[in-house]
Amino acid sequence: MAFPDVRPRRLRRTPAMRRLVEETKLAPAELILPMFVKEGLTAPRPIASMPGVLQHTRDSLRKAAVEAAQAGLGGIMLFGVPTTESKDETGSAGTDPDGILNAALRDVVAEVGDATVVMSDLCLDEFTSHGHCGVLAADGTVDNDATLAIYAEMAVAQAAAGAAVVGPSGMMDGQVGVVRKALDAAGYQDVTILAYAAKYASALYGPFRDAVESSLVGDRRTYQQDPPNVREALREVALDVDEGADIVMVKPALPYLDVIAAVHASFDVPVAAYQISGEYAMVEAAAANGWIDRDRAMLETLTSIRRAGAQMILTYWALDAATALRARY
Ligand code: PBG
Repeated sequence: MAFPDVRPRRLRRTPAMRRLVEETKLAPAELILPMFVKEGLTAPRPIASMPGVLQHTRDSLRKAAVEAAQAGLGGIMLFGVPTTESKDETGSAGTDPDGILNAALRDVVAEVGDATVVMSDLCLDEFTSHGHCGVLAADGTVDNDATLAIYAEMAVAQAAAGAAVVGPSGMMDGQVGVVRKALDAAGYQDVTILAYAAKYASALYGPFRDAVESSLVGDRRTYQQDPPNVREALREVALDVDEGADIVMVKPALPYLDVIAAVHASFDVPVAAYQISGEYAMVEAAAANGWIDRDRAMLETLTSIRRAGAQMILTYWALDAATALRARY
């Protein structure tokens, strides 16, 4: 036999053959679309640093949620953007049943019911005047335990508004435990917790902070994780699972594929990953310059995150990716 006698290229010869041996497939049902709804807005507003992503009005959000459900997406994750006047030191619009996020949750659940999984971000940063994910102590640091009490109240408000899943994302110690206890005590045993378990203090959140008109000055390094650490992520995930997390998330996604793989290997709960605003913006910006092929980069990054071990992915491309996937399979 002529050398080489092992020829891996045989399995790459045609699109049909490549599809046959593909190890990782993506489905629309594994994608979750993050969506922004802004208080008092009269028409949807584009977010400059996230081409194709909108701040919705309550009305346009309703319609977009129906579209997401019809596209077969696994879920939608809602973020509320209050007006500057609605922000205060303790983020009280987050616990107010009429606050923008809770009001929008009610709207969306009335529209889509259980056709897709309706999730809400459970954090204070959009609602506080200082932009931190918790309340501040007298010395200006973020007060962990005082913040927990507010998260508990906020979780119950979101459950009452119809959220099927709440996503505690503030990186306070003990947040999953207090949220689980508060939900159970209020009769919401069936509300699921998707814990932002390993959330890093990343440079790539920039465009999101435009999207939610964040008031933050400084950074979140005293509560979000330090990028060099992976063992610490496993510790964070173990704590969250112990406190009652149903699903654990790693965030950001692409620069942290090793973390996703390690979490997937070590725990038996579903693993989610959040392909964040900066990951999206980098590809969109390069594509807008004609430097990379947007659609190929979109599917390649999502597939890589899936291959690393994330069973579901939050991505601003969820709708476009669902369309591309339907054409492919
Ligand atoms: C906190 C939260 C953030 C994101 C999701 N939830 C911002 C932060 O931690 O600063 C970022 C998502 C993204 O960048 O796409 N409420």
